[in-house]
Amino acid sequence: MKDVYILAIESSCDETSCAIVKNGKEDIATVILSQIDIHTNFGGVVPEIASRQHIKNITIVIEECLHKAEMKMENIDYIAVTYGPGLIGSLLVGVEAAKTLSFIYNKPLIPVNHIAGHIYANNLTKEMKYPLIALVISGGHTELVYMKDEYNFEKIGGTLDDSIGECYDKVARVIGIGYPGGPVIDKISEKGIHEYNLPLPLNDDSYNFSFSGLKSAVINLEHNSKQRKEIINKENLARSFQDVVVEIITKKTMKALKDKNVKRLIVAGGVAANKAIRNKLKELCEKESIDYSVPDLKYCTDNATMIGAAAYFAYKNGRVADITLNAKSSEKLV
Ligand code: KG4
Ligand code: ZN
Repeated sequence: MKDVYILAIESSCDETSCAIVKNGKEDIATVILSQIDIHTNFGGVVPEIASRQHIKNITIVIEECLHKAEMKMENIDYIAVTYGPGLIGSLLVGVEAAKTLSFIYNKPLIPVNHIAGHIYANNLTKEMKYPLIALVISGGHTELVYMKDEYNFEKIGGTLDDSIGECYDKVARVIGIGYPGGPVIDKISEKGIHEYNLPLPLNDDSYNFSFSGLKSAVINLEHNSKQRKEIINKENLARSFQDVVVEIITKKTMKALKDKNVKRLIVAGGVAANKAIRNKLKELCEKESIDYSVPDLKYCTDNATMIGAAAYFAYKNGRVADITLNAKSSEKLV
């Protein structure tokens, strides 16, 4: 079979990225321009600044990616792009760039859902087999997805309020350890002990999650300590918070696997980089003889490589777009 080269673009949040992926599994070249340093000053992503930065960066990442791959547009078979969900202004930059390339070079255009991209990041590390359960944990999403087959998604549960990544970032801001908070909490919690009592959120039989109560509990704890002029131990608070998150995430994920009688688990999204979550799920899956897979760290947070991987399977399953493709900020995974 002829090899398929996809040039993919991702710009849904604060990373401008272009990648060339072979056959949905091989990273030929990836370029990512992150805006984290700019948004750090504001303690979170500022949408208007993000779209302006994407405009500055988009042609740079495309040219650099082709250069890195030592390829020309003529060698590319398809163009793929994240069209949603995400920040509308950011998405539009990638979508317009992809449509332009598709039009000028006469290449089919493949629309990719950002969450599908996170899920297919796993295929860059290990070939995905079905049926499987995907735990999607990122800055914008917390979902349990049942995949009966290739590119077939059924959301069986999700957060009722904040995403897990949002919760990590907010807690980090409250305890004053910077943005994005996930990696820092992950790191400092290793040095802490479980000292603070925090509620186990939405501890029920559903596959849904809720993080706003946990977030508020940390905020209240911080305020109360301040009033009492007590000093919070940041490492211990990070550890107490992370223990609770790991417990509820792993409990619901293992329940979904058991109820659906599925023997494969993949984890996806920026929070999939979390050491404690990765380790606990690995341990539980080993115990239950469940095939467990998580992307390489570099493919956990936003990148275009995962979009190129997903696009291969999207196209195989009939997803194709034309010049009328539009960005959709709250697009659902279907
Ligand atoms: O997937 P992603 O790059 O962007 C979205 O699509 O939302 O995820 C970003 C999120 C941020 O909230 C960041 O704090 C979190 O992933 N994150 C982590 C870790 N690394 C990144 N959260 C917990 N532990 C980590 N090691
Ligand atoms: Zn993402």
